[in-house]
Amino acid sequence: MDESRTAVVRPAETEELDRALAVWQHAHVVRRNGRPLPAGHVTASAARVRRPGALVLIALDGDAVVGTVAGEQGLAQDGAGAPVPGLMHLCLLSVAPDRWGHRLGHLLLDAVAAEAAERGYERLQLWTHADNLRANRLYKSLRFRRTGRALIDPWGELLVQYQRPVAG
Ligand SMILES: CC(C)(COP(=O)(O)OP(=O)(O)OC[C@H]1O[C@@H](n2cnc3c(N)ncnc32)[C@H](O)[C@@H]1OP(=O)(O)O)[C@@H](O)C(=O)NCCC(=O)NCCS
Repeated sequence: MDESRTAVVRPAETEELDRALAVWQHAHVVRRNGRPLPAGHVTASAARVRRPGALVLIALDGDAVVGTVAGEQGLAQDGAGAPVPGLMHLCLLSVAPDRWGHRLGHLLLDAVAAEAAERGYERLQLWTHADNLRANRLYKSLRFRRTGRALIDPWGELLVQYQRPVAG
């Protein structure tokens, strides 16, 4: 089923951010076979989405938040350095598990790319786990390409980087 025809994607209001973060956490618990995201990562992400100028989109089915994605200025040195002109870093992409495979991830990425273009960004980047088959397949189908960069996260799991021109 293609829910991208009926879902609405729009910027989150401040009071909707907790519901967006709840979808993100739940999606990861399910993907990770019951392992929750590390508490420090959740706290840091909750602060990031509340920064002035943060771009947080939500997918809505009626009143229900069923997905989210966020974009922010890309920084050099994997987030520790200076802003990289034209680069938007994407994070928090997640869809409620009972909606997986219904093209909501696709819809959210198209919407965040359109918003990035509107804000004058030229490239999108993101990281994902190498073993996250659904996410890797989604990014490839939307013309993201692996850059060749990879990292081991603090839990010993392999992360790979993707980039794409904003216009795809
Ligand atoms: C990754 C995630 C956001 C994808 O959302 P989604 O709504 O299921 O994605 P879509 O339905 O748009 O799927 C798009 C593509 O994914 C791929 N896909 C869909 N179902 C799949 C499956 N069962 N197995 C592998 N790939 C699949 C296909 O390429 C599909 O494109 P197609 O329908 O044109 O063939 C969602 O699964 C999720 O929230 N996962 C947990 C959180 C997460 O891992 N986020 C990414 C972190 S970087």
